[in-house]
Amino acid sequence: MRRLPLLIALASLAGVLFLLYRTSVPASHVGHPAAIGAHAEEEHEEIEVAVSMGRLQRFHQKWWLAGKAGNAELARFYLHEMEEAMEMIADGHVMDEGVNVSEKMETYGVATVNNLAALLDSAGVGAMHAEASTLVKACNSCHMATKHAYIRIKVPDTAAFPDQDFAPNTQ
Ligand code: HEC
Repeated sequence: MRRLPLLIALASLAGVLFLLYRTSVPASHVGHPAAIGAHAEEEHEEIEVAVSMGRLQRFHQKWWLAGKAGNAELARFYLHEMEEAMEMIADGHVMDEGVNVSEKMETYGVATVNNLAALLDSAGVGAMHAEASTLVKACNSCHMATKHAYIRIKVPDTAAFPDQDFAPNTQ
């Protein structure tokens, strides 16, 4: 019976040690998952911009071919695809070398594509196609604004997707 106070003291000491352990373990681990998460996100974003740009370049060529062929329906489709590729970056909170890439994408990219879609609807595919250089200027203005001036886009002088017909549907 005389041992009881000792047991209580030991038990409470064990309890205190357990609590110290509980509070110290998560604390010492807190930095790691967050740091790994942030790093992974950074790399993920870098990959996304390059991948979206590759898609954007292809859609740009196809949009130009559709416009050249006078295919309003197809040109509208590619404007929409370009807008989607741009929105991915615009909504992605992408920062690169201190430049807010997402914000620039909204200003230069999304706004221009929306204007072209409005022009297509109001004035037709010919009027839209005549503004092909407007889109190219927007691409390049943004490349300059994001410190990528060496990536220069131009209105295609030729483009070929040999397995796709860009002419309007005649059926
Ligand atoms: C945010 C504004 C912005 C707009 C608008 C923009 N780009 Fe880019 N583009 C970038 C950035 C930033 C990079 C560099 C990506 C990287 O560092 O991985 C890039 C890279 C590229 C590349 C190089 C990657 C590759 O696949 O060769 C191409 C091509 C490209 N853009 C095409 C275009 C085209 C075509 C347009 C217009 C239809 C356009 N871009 C509009 C920001 C923009």
